[in-house]
Amino acid sequence: MFAVYADSFSNDDPLAGLVVGERPDPVVPEGWVRVHVKAASLNHHDLWSLRGVGLRQESLPMILGCDAAGLDDDGNEVIVHAVISSPEWSGDETLDPGRSLLSERYQGTFADQVVVPRRNVVAKPTELSFAEAACLPTAWLTAYRMLFVQGALKAGDTVLVQGAGGGVATALIVLARAGGLRVLVTSRDQSKRDRALELGAHEAFESGARLPVRVDAVMETVGRATWSHSVKSLRPGGKIVISGTTSGPDLDNAELTRIFFLQLQVIGSTMGTRSELAALVNMLAATGVRPLIDRTLPMEQARDGFAAMAAGDLFGKVVFTR
Ligand SMILES: NC(=O)c1ccc[n+]([C@@H]2O[C@H](COP(=O)([O-])OP(=O)(O)OC[C@H]3O[C@@H](n4cnc5c(N)ncnc54)[C@H](OP(=O)(O)O)[C@@H]3O)[C@@H](O)[C@H]2O)c1
Repeated sequence: MFAVYADSFSNDDPLAGLVVGERPDPVVPEGWVRVHVKAASLNHHDLWSLRGVGLRQESLPMILGCDAAGLDDDGNEVIVHAVISSPEWSGDETLDPGRSLLSERYQGTFADQVVVPRRNVVAKPTELSFAEAACLPTAWLTAYRMLFVQGALKAGDTVLVQGAGGGVATALIVLARAGGLRVLVTSRDQSKRDRALELGAHEAFESGARLPVRVDAVMETVGRATWSHSVKSLRPGGKIVISGTTSGPDLDNAELTRIFFLQLQVIGSTMGTRSELAALVNMLAATGVRPLIDRTLPMEQARDGFAAMAAGDLFGKVVFTR
C-alpha cells in the first residue's frame, strides 16, 4: 500500500530519512480494526521521529503519523485515538507505563490503512469533515487536556498561550476561547499575532513582552525560549501546564526561587484519553468550533508539509488527504 515512512534518522536534516513510497498491507490482529485513511494530520512528533527521538533504530522502517480519520471495514466514519495502551491496562491510557503513540511501536497513519485496537477508534460526527477530524487526536486532544483536565481551568480564568502559530497553540487559543477563558498569546511574528487575534485571542504580545496582568495559567509547548517568561507571567498560586519543548528542554534559568516563593505549580500533560477525545469531539459538534488548517495536501506531497513544519512556516495544522 501507499505509505509515508521513516527509513533513517538525522538530527540535522530530518527530511533525509523521509520516504514517500510503498509498504506491505497491515495484518489485522484479533481485537484490532483496520481504518481506511481518508485524512491524516502532521504533528511535530513526526519531525521528532525523523530525528530519532522516541523511535528506535530497530523499529525502522516506520510509517509516520499519529492522527487519522477514515472508514472502518464496515464503512463507519471513525477517528483514531493515537495512544496505544497495553491490552491489560484499564483507566487513563496516558498513565500506562507501557503505552506508546502510533508510529513509535505500531505503524502510523500516513498510509492507505492503519490498524489499531478496537478501543482506539471513536465515532466521527457527520458535522466534522475528515480533514477536521484528522486534526484532533494529537494536537487538539493535547490542548483539550492541558486546559480542562490537567489545568482544570474554567470560564472566567485568564490563560497565556506561548507561541501562537503552532498546531497545539492554535488549538489552545480556539478551545480556551470556546470555554469562556480570557486568552493572551505570544508569538515572535507580527502576522501570527494578528492571526491569533482573528482566531479569538483577546490580546497578543511579542514573545517575552511584559504582560499587563498576571495570568492564572500558562500553556507551554515552546520550552527553553519561553520558560522564564512563563514563570514570570503567573499570579501567586498560578500554574504552568507543559506538553512540549520545541525550542529545547535545557533551561538557562528554571526560575526555581519564583516557583517556590509564589507557590506556583508545574504540571505535565501528554496527549489525552479516549474519553477525552470523545468529549473534545462533542465540544466541537456543540460549539461549532473547528480546527484551524494551514494547508491540505495530497499525501503524495507529504514532503512539502514536513518542510513547512521544519521551517516553522505554519499557522495551524497540515492535513494530508487520500
Ligand atoms: N506531550 C504531548 O502529548 C504533545 C502533543 C502534541 C505536541 N507536543 C509538543 O508540543 C510542541 C508543539 O507541537 P506542534 O505540533 O504544535 O508544533 P508546531 O506546529 O511546529 O509549533 C511550534 C510552536 O513553537 C513556537 N516556537 C518554536 N520555536 C520557538 C522559539 N525559539 N521561540 C518562541 N516560540 C517558538 C512557535 O511559535 P511562533 O512561531 O508563533 O512564535 C509555534 O507556536 C512540540 O514540541 C511537540 O512535540 C506534545
